[in-house]
Amino acid sequence: MEVIILATPKAAAIAVGQIIQRLLDEKPRAVLGLATGDTARLLYRELVKRHLDWSRVTTFNLDEYIGLPPYHPASYHRFMWENLFTHTNIKKKNVHIPDGLAKDLQSYCTRYETQIRQAGGIDLQVLGIGRNGHIGFNEPTSSLSSRTRVKTLAPQTRKDNARHFDGKDRIPRHVITMGIGTIMDARRCLLLACGKNKARILSGAVEGPITSMNPASILQLHPTARIVLDEAAASRLKRADYYRWVFQNKPTWQKAYP
Ligand code: GLP
Repeated sequence: MEVIILATPKAAAIAVGQIIQRLLDEKPRAVLGLATGDTARLLYRELVKRHLDWSRVTTFNLDEYIGLPPYHPASYHRFMWENLFTHTNIKKKNVHIPDGLAKDLQSYCTRYETQIRQAGGIDLQVLGIGRNGHIGFNEPTSSLSSRTRVKTLAPQTRKDNARHFDGKDRIPRHVITMGIGTIMDARRCLLLACGKNKARILSGAVEGPITSMNPASILQLHPTARIVLDEAAASRLKRADYYRWVFQNKPTWQKAYP
């Protein structure tokens, strides 16, 4: 696990933007796993500014609320098109976001897994983190080897995401999410997190035990996971100075950024 600490959310988003730009330069047909949320929005702003060539890129989003039509203001379909895809030359057929209106949810989830496999697997999975450690919508106690499936949201997540809905009763209780096993199959994982309200859960994910009570902690087992943080999100890491030292002293060829 490589921990990269940068001064501000903007600097963190620029770093991740640069890593993704390098991947698309090296592999124009890259398969990206994408996330949603306010942190991801910062990243997408940065990617849009870079005017990258998305014409051969394939994407798979982590998750979607069940029951929301794609045009719903809080749906992740709408989020992705408004914040990223509309501003790129990506082909619609190469965009995959779980369908929250799918009739047969179970077979839909199995098909999503097949589609990822048929695309050659995910080269780089972008992740955020929920305040309870969720990645995608894999809430605490999710199986660490789970695949794409339907999950019930934790009350805290519904509360945290209430700001995107008018009225707390309107927040769906169920979602489709890639599983933790699905995420771990990605060739690279990159978790971006900013802000003080993520500091506690991140210290557990990075420096605590691997446990389904903090699903992001599974990234300790990933061969090439990077955690990119701003100072506030890193503020409860005990070994922050060590991570900074390692980052500053990497061999040039091994550097993710700059
Ligand atoms: C949602 C998404 C997660 C994301 C999280 C963080 O819950 N399902 O994938 O990590 O939001 O959101 P924010 O960046 O807004 O804190």
